[in-house]
Amino acid sequence: MSQKTALITGASVGIGAEVARQLHALGYSLILMARREHKLNELNQELGGQHQIIACDVNDQGAIEAAVKDMQRVDVLINNAGLALGLSSAEQSDWAHWQTMIHTNCLALAFLTRQLLPNMVKRNQGHIINLGSVAGSYAYKGGNVYGATKAFVEQFSLGLRADLLGTAIKVTNLEPGLIGGTEFSNVRYEGDNDKASAMYENCQPLTAQDIANTISWLLTQPAHMNVNRMEIMPVCQAPAGLSVHKS
Ligand SMILES: NC(=O)c1ccc[n+]([C@@H]2O[C@H](COP(=O)([O-])OP(=O)(O)OC[C@H]3O[C@@H](n4cnc5c(N)ncnc54)[C@H](OP(=O)(O)O)[C@@H]3O)[C@@H](O)[C@H]2O)c1
Repeated sequence: MSQKTALITGASVGIGAEVARQLHALGYSLILMARREHKLNELNQELGGQHQIIACDVNDQGAIEAAVKDMQRVDVLINNAGLALGLSSAEQSDWAHWQTMIHTNCLALAFLTRQLLPNMVKRNQGHIINLGSVAGSYAYKGGNVYGATKAFVEQFSLGLRADLLGTAIKVTNLEPGLIGGTEFSNVRYEGDNDKASAMYENCQPLTAQDIANTISWLLTQPAHMNVNRMEIMPVCQAPAGLSVHKS
């Protein structure tokens, strides 16, 4: 069987980099995408230097179009690039933060998917794995627009499956809870690393490796089986119910 190709967005650090390591070990040819070229280069060197690097912002539609134009084959698309910015209450939050989250987590993810889909359909082969979040299903204070973007990703994933019914293409929305050891909280708290590390004190969050293991598992299931949604939390986390404010 010829070598399969996986395009991973947000491959420079965190979950994306760990997924790259595991898919490399599974024998995939990789296309690694993120803004920080030096991080992508370091990762590629670690993996033997044979993979393709695309250093760009996923919001740059011109750069994405140019990069995708000559791609003959993408068997697996891991839509992982994404972020949360801030935890302020909605009425106090920064509009620019909301725009960046909507652009990156929704529009850019949809745009890249739209660019790659025609070829997947033509080849009748592919697996799109979107990184959603438990924030798309359970509201928490300060999660406002971040949660809404992940609800978009969940519904978009289900909608893709509906449109792709009758093809061999799989779509999965992977919805993790608390994950430690990535830059997610450092980005959310805009570089306040003390606040970011406090998120993970006295508990054992999931790791990027747990998520990469899950993705490797998803990619090794039989051709007739599609996992639509998969929600994963660390044991220390639970959807702990509704709140009531009493005066
Ligand atoms: N960590 C969690 O607790 C958690 C839980 C549930 C879901 N998730 C989701 O999992 C995904 C990965 O999170 P993570 O924890 O691995 O976070 P991370 O360590 O901050 O990694 C995010 C990745 O996305 C890339 N990225 C961000 N904005 C980009 C842009 N505009 N253009 C291109 N690349 C961009 C970053 O690379 P550059 O900065 O180099 O561009 C980086 O490689 C996200 O979609 C996140 O919402 C995370």
